[in-house]
Formats: sequence, structure tokens, C-alpha cells
Amino acid sequence: MSSDLPRKIVLLGTGGTIAGSAADADDNLGYTAAQVGVAQLLRAIPESVLAPFEIVAEQVAQLDSKDMSFVVWRQLAQRCTHWLAQEGVQGVVITHGTDTLEETAFFLQSVLPAGLTSEKPVVLTCAMRPASAYFPDGPQNLADALAVASDVPAKGVLAVCAGRIHSALHVQKVHPYRLDAFDSGDAGPLGFVEEGRVRWVCAPVPILVLSTANVEQARCSAEPTASALEVLAQLTIWPRVEIIMNYAGAGGFMVDAMLARSILDPLHGLVVAATGNGTLHHDLERALLRAQDAGVRVVLSSRCHNGRVLPRSDAQFPDSCGLSPVKARVALMLDLMLGVAGA
Ligand code: SIN
Repeated sequence: MSSDLPRKIVLLGTGGTIAGSAADADDNLGYTAAQVGVAQLLRAIPESVLAPFEIVAEQVAQLDSKDMSFVVWRQLAQRCTHWLAQEGVQGVVITHGTDTLEETAFFLQSVLPAGLTSEKPVVLTCAMRPASAYFPDGPQNLADALAVASDVPAKGVLAVCAGRIHSALHVQKVHPYRLDAFDSGDAGPLGFVEEGRVRWVCAPVPILVLSTANVEQARCSAEPTASALEVLAQLTIWPRVEIIMNYAGAGGFMVDAMLARSILDPLHGLVVAATGNGTLHHDLERALLRAQDAGVRVVLSSRCHNGRVLPRSDAQFPDSCGLSPVKARVALMLDLMLGVAGA
């Protein structure tokens, strides 16, 4: 594409603090998320910054991302697939709340057809201050996301916040207030946006993650996830996968309670945010073994922010291949829906 043609980017709005509004401009805490339409967010960006782009804006949802639902995820995946397949579209930018951004990013990375995301990026962005603030961070983040989405090396699902580019696989919200609220742990960011210019420090590989069972192989796989979206489109109820944490004094009560209710409300999977390298209080471990014997898929992740559970030959449960508890939950739900067998 000639560089003087406008770069066509599709902007999908889902709400969040970036679209939040407070009664007073000096109130960065008592605001309501998801009040401002996505088209209006663009008005906070100077025309000179928007000049190189042709932007198509679409409001997919308007919610606080703590209330994110499977219905919105599916709709978002369908809209991304639709737009990425259009010739002339260089990439998709999604405005999203920070609270569950990493889950949405990981979900999209897992289900969007690899044939599309290996060519074009989907860039999630957000803000820690509402649009009504005296000094909002949303306009800068949105401008940075547009720059990344139209940068030729960009591919896969990415997150852009506070001038840093993260992969969907590694990004995590690590701070409840700071503008630079995201981190990629040991992996570090993929790159930076500086004065509108994108500087990559790692090649943005379109990582394909379909399964807690095969995450390592899948990262290197070029196989498309062709039917993932078709399967999801047909399912009205997604499998119930809950997250349990190990901590001092943890017991089996919650696992047993869920199992007891399972006749009415079937439990399909449990992800455990275990201590350290996958360690569990013996009472919780016994309850998890009862759950596993009853047919519930149990996956071990670590509650440590960095690193991963290192596999052991005597492990009672498969580990999450380095996925954080919330991402392991998404991967396990997808495994269950797509019929991927456990390790
Ligand atoms: C949300 O996640 O929708 C609200 C919080 C935020 O965006 O920072």
C-alpha cells in the first residue's frame, strides 16, 4: 500500500474507564465507566494526529470490563474477524476497560483465525483516568494504539498502554491506579511508542494459544484455529470453570461445595492459583483430587506474578504452561468447548 494513502483502521468500542465520565474533572476515582461513545473518544485526539488514518468506528458494547460477558467476547471476535478479512483494513483497535483487558486479549488471540492475525494486528487499549479528567491518559493511549495498528511489523493481538506494547500472552494488569498499569513480567514489553513512532524490541510473533494442554507447541504452530469461532457461535452455554486459590489455612470447603451443587449447576473445570511452584494445602489438594475423580478438569497455575509452575513428573494435576490463573481459565474453557483433551 502506498504510504500517502490513508491507513484504514477499524476502532471497536467496548467501554471502560477510557470511556468513563465523572461529575467533576478533578475526580479520577468516583467516575462511571463506559459513558462516552467510541466516535467521541476520537474527538479528543488532534486532527494532525488523525490525519494519516481513515477510521471506521463501531460500538460493540458499552460496559465496565469487570462485567465482561461471553456474549460480548463472541461478538467482539466476530467483528474482529469480519474487519480483518476486509482488504484495505490494516488493523483493528479496541478500546477496553483495564480490569479484564488481559482476558479479552488472550481470548481473542486464542480464537481469531491465525490466517488473519498473522497478517494484521488487533490492538487493545485503555485508560486509567476517565475521559472527563483534567489530564486523561486515554487520548494518548488511543493515538499510540492507532500508530501500532498501522505499523507494518505489528501482528497478533497486542495491548498498548502508557507507551508500552505488550503481547496478549504476557500482559497483566499489575497496578490499580498508576497510569502505567500493565506489565509483561519476565517476557518484558514487545516495544514502545515514542512521539508517535513505534520501536519494537521483540518481533511480534502471532502466538497461537488454543489449549492449556498444548500451549508450548501451539506458540510455535502455524495451524489456523479455523473452526474455533464457528464452534463458539453455536454454544449458548459455556462450560463453568472457576478459579480457586491456595493460601495459608486453605481447605477443601469451596471445592466440595461446588461439587455438591454440580448436579444443578455443572462444574467443568477448576484452575488453581497455587502457591509458589504449584504447591497446595493438603486439604485443598485432597478436595481437588476428589473433583478430578468426579470428572472436573483441574489445572495448576501459580499465584506468583512472574515465572511459571515448572512441570514435575509426580504432579497430580497438569500445569497451565505458564498461563496466569485468569488466562488458564480462558484456555481451559476453550479446551472444553473445542474438545481438546487434557495433558
Ligand atoms: C473497566 O475495567 O472497565 C474499568 C476500569 C478501567 O478501565 O480502568
